[in-house]
Amino acid sequence: MKEDFSNYINTNVFKAISTQTSALNTESYVIGGYVRDLLLERPSKDIDVVTTGDGIELAKNVAKALNPKLKVNYFKNFGTAQFKYKGIDLEFVGARKESYNRDSRKPVVEDGTIEDDQNRRDFTINAMAISLNEHNYGALIDPFGGRNDLESQIIRTPLNPDITFDDDPLRMMRGIRFATQLGFHIEDETLTAIKRNRKRISIVSKERIVDELNKIMMSSKPSIGFILLDRTGLLELILPEISALKGVNIVNGVGHKDNFLHTLKVLDRVVEHTDNLWLRWAALLHDVAKPQTKKYIEGQGWTFHGHNYIGSKMIPRIFRRIKLPLNEKMKFVQKIVNLHMRPIVLSEEEVSDSAVRRMLFEAGDDIDDLMTLCEADITSKNETKVKQYLANFRLVRQKLKEIEEKDAVRNFQPPVKGEDIMEIFGLKPCREVGDIKNSIKEAILDGVIHNNYDEAYSYMLEKAKEMGLKPLK
Ligand code: CTP
Repeated sequence: MKEDFSNYINTNVFKAISTQTSALNTESYVIGGYVRDLLLERPSKDIDVVTTGDGIELAKNVAKALNPKLKVNYFKNFGTAQFKYKGIDLEFVGARKESYNRDSRKPVVEDGTIEDDQNRRDFTINAMAISLNEHNYGALIDPFGGRNDLESQIIRTPLNPDITFDDDPLRMMRGIRFATQLGFHIEDETLTAIKRNRKRISIVSKERIVDELNKIMMSSKPSIGFILLDRTGLLELILPEISALKGVNIVNGVGHKDNFLHTLKVLDRVVEHTDNLWLRWAALLHDVAKPQTKKYIEGQGWTFHGHNYIGSKMIPRIFRRIKLPLNEKMKFVQKIVNLHMRPIVLSEEEVSDSAVRRMLFEAGDDIDDLMTLCEADITSKNETKVKQYLANFRLVRQKLKEIEEKDAVRNFQPPVKGEDIMEIFGLKPCREVGDIKNSIKEAILDGVIHNNYDEAYSYMLEKAKEMGLKPLK
């Protein structure tokens, strides 16, 4: 079935490609993600063009026709060329018949027809092409029923999935990522083949894998992706720490919740409130140390003492292994994981000013993100409990606001500095200076004094007197 899509590609860019294709007496097609997104009515700024002729020559001619000043980048070895035009990224490649080397993702390439090129693509929904040739401009070339699969919301490979995944195992991650982003179903044979070929993921670079993970994280319901990663066995290979959260232990008839399912619930809920990738990672990792801290204590039930602190310590190792950045983003994730129990503990007791002040002092500017995670973390089925927690959190938020206005401890700077103390008492750097400074900070956090110079100064004199120190003047 061929259909006419000429209206969709009625732009000067596509027309220029068509004219230059005829001039070179070859054929060309727009293919892949652009066609998929066109049919999904999702705007796309990446245009991939396949030609049965020389991709570099066609790119150069099209660029020249659009604007003689355009700079074309090309890679002779791969026969690909690329340029940008008015914010659109255009890529040209010669149609290829391709097979991959079993030990790497580097393809062995031969010239081919458009059908050959479509055969070697990852999924039917990504293998559709639209003709840019004058004789059938706008015709949809869809040999594998990609359009049907788009309508039925199915991810499936054009060839036998074992071949498609063996050719490029990254596609297993891509399939799960597309299913997550689009909310599509992975067809059974394709899913089983991912399971069968999962170990081949080892030849894919860590950067490419984490790229896909981040795309899953940035989707509107990342749990879809993590459940598929788990079902196919990929999760255990990529993020064994998350896979280890699965399951429930029962002692004396008392079980704890399944921490994998709980984590996914928290992640999906955080996603509703933030676009911050790193807060999403913090949600995924917030209970990562629960398996190793899990303990059944008679009279208390299941406990996970210190899981927040131990979890935060596990993060650098995980980030290094999967090639996430080891910078302030990682520190942010560590901080949120470490502090994630604080608002809960706080709201279980009476919400005191000093406890809120201390939390604000430690969380600093990340306090709102911390509260977002904590609110998402309340997944109990007991509605009364949930209501009570959320009411307490509202109280914490209100107190945070009041204290912020009064005491400004969010990014605490001591009102009396170490140098001031040394000068006033004629001291060299020594323990006493640190002790006085610390006691001022503690007094502010406990609400004994306000966060201002005058009160801190009087308090300092009092403390120094107790220590037998006198000011010089
Ligand atoms: N492709 C493939 N196998 C891969 C990567 C890409 O077959 N491992 C093909 C698909 O036909 C895909 C096209 O190359 O549509 C372009 O790939 P890319 O730009 O990476 O992805 P898109 O499908 O455009 O989607 P997205 O931009 O969301 O990654």
